[in-house]
Amino acid sequence: MKVYVIAAIGFAALTLSSCDSKEKAEKDAAANPSPQQILANTPATHGKLSKPVELTTPLNQEWVKTGLASYEMKCLACHKLDETRIVGPGWKGVTERRTPEWIMNMIVNTDEMLDKDPTAQEMLEQCLVRMPNQNLSEDESRHVLEFMRHNDGVQ
Ligand code: HEC
Repeated sequence: MKVYVIAAIGFAALTLSSCDSKEKAEKDAAANPSPQQILANTPATHGKLSKPVELTTPLNQEWVKTGLASYEMKCLACHKLDETRIVGPGWKGVTERRTPEWIMNMIVNTDEMLDKDPTAQEMLEQCLVRMPNQNLSEDESRHVLEFMRHNDGVQ
């Protein structure tokens, strides 16, 4: 009896913590393109970035550090670093499913992305919470991107 109750509570917690209904998650999984397909369908630039984003390896470790600090202060409440969705999607793999320009625009140009970008709008439909613009500068958002690359295993 006790076991059932605990299981029921666990199930309820699980259901509540995900922002998708089960049906919707299944539908999304079926319709979910691979990261490569998403990338191929994403225009190289959106919005108002002043310059193309250059990615370097090895990573700029200073930027990883400042990016981490921004994450802890302004993003951590809604984004986990693994795949788990809390308010927003977990960040694991984000640099593989999105272009660098798309990610930086989502950070500095959040409202326009949520108004116009089909991928961002799809996420909004799933999460039902509109990501607030966190007022990062373009440089700060570049540092967060470096931290995301670090989180995705780039050296
Ligand atoms: C109040 C919660 C909240 C905060 C704080 C927040 N976000 Fe978000 N974020 C979201 C939600 C929700 C989404 C999904 C789109 C939507 O529903 O608006 C999202 C989506 C994203 C995406 C796209 C993820 C993907 O899988 O494609 C990126 C990138 C992102 N956020 C970056 C950031 C960064 C960087 C910060 C901190 C500077 C931040 N977010 C702070 C809620 C938040």
